[in-house]
Amino acid sequence: MTSPLKKVRTSTLLSLKQSRTAFACITSYDALTAEIFDQAGIEVILVGDSAGNVVLGHENTLEVSVEEMISFGKAVAQAAKHSLVVIDMPFGSYEVSPEQAVENAIKLMKHSGAEAVKLEGGKDRIPQIKAIVAAGIPVMGHLGFTPQSVHALGGFKVQGRGDQASELLVEATSLEQAGVFALVLEMVPAQLAKTITESLSIPTIGIGAGNQTDGQILVWQDFAGLSNGSRKFVKQYANLRDELAAAAHSYRSEVQSRAFPDKEHSFED
Ligand code: KIV
Repeated sequence: MTSPLKKVRTSTLLSLKQSRTAFACITSYDALTAEIFDQAGIEVILVGDSAGNVVLGHENTLEVSVEEMISFGKAVAQAAKHSLVVIDMPFGSYEVSPEQAVENAIKLMKHSGAEAVKLEGGKDRIPQIKAIVAAGIPVMGHLGFTPQSVHALGGFKVQGRGDQASELLVEATSLEQAGVFALVLEMVPAQLAKTITESLSIPTIGIGAGNQTDGQILVWQDFAGLSNGSRKFVKQYANLRDELAAAAHSYRSEVQSRAFPDKEHSFED
């Protein structure tokens, strides 16, 4: 059976912005969830370095390596047939120089099968963005709260309030000029995100940035209610944590009572 879903490319996101059609993005780090999100028609799957928190159990994203991102990315890219697959450049893989950034962007693309990279930061990252784009790799930008700079930003704080607003708009414009095909805006006041969205010709993707950005993104374990604890901007569309806990309790008690495996789940001679 052929799927009615069409392959999403960077140009698709641009067309969606132009037709004012909002699109959905979600993170994934494994083949099974990537397949589910792909078949649900989610336009973009991000292999986020949030894997550091929600898969590897770290306190932040700083420890994630290029090699770890490649193995998450490979699983996702093999499973996703329609969604655009974007992979995060982890902390330390691009800040040193444009040469370092290009080398690692090529490594991530070549070995994961992802179709674009994402990196965090504003004007200081322009040379890196230009160099990666010149190497033929689509780049997604990320402004506002940038988790890899959590220490420099003094914790999880909304960015772009008051005087910072015009600065953020200038940075967004410079990223567009540098060649990013889309821009994530994280924890930015809704009105500022709307202004940035209206000022740019590339699509914006919000997370904690109101409902007027061109797309939205959430970390899958957050939207599915699997992660422990929640942020203001996360809406839970399922409660997997409670469901899995209930399943684990039932399984254990059926093993103890020898109710599992029953005849149906056993082989006969
Ligand atoms: O790593 C990640 O998951 C992200 C999104 C939250 C935008 O960067």
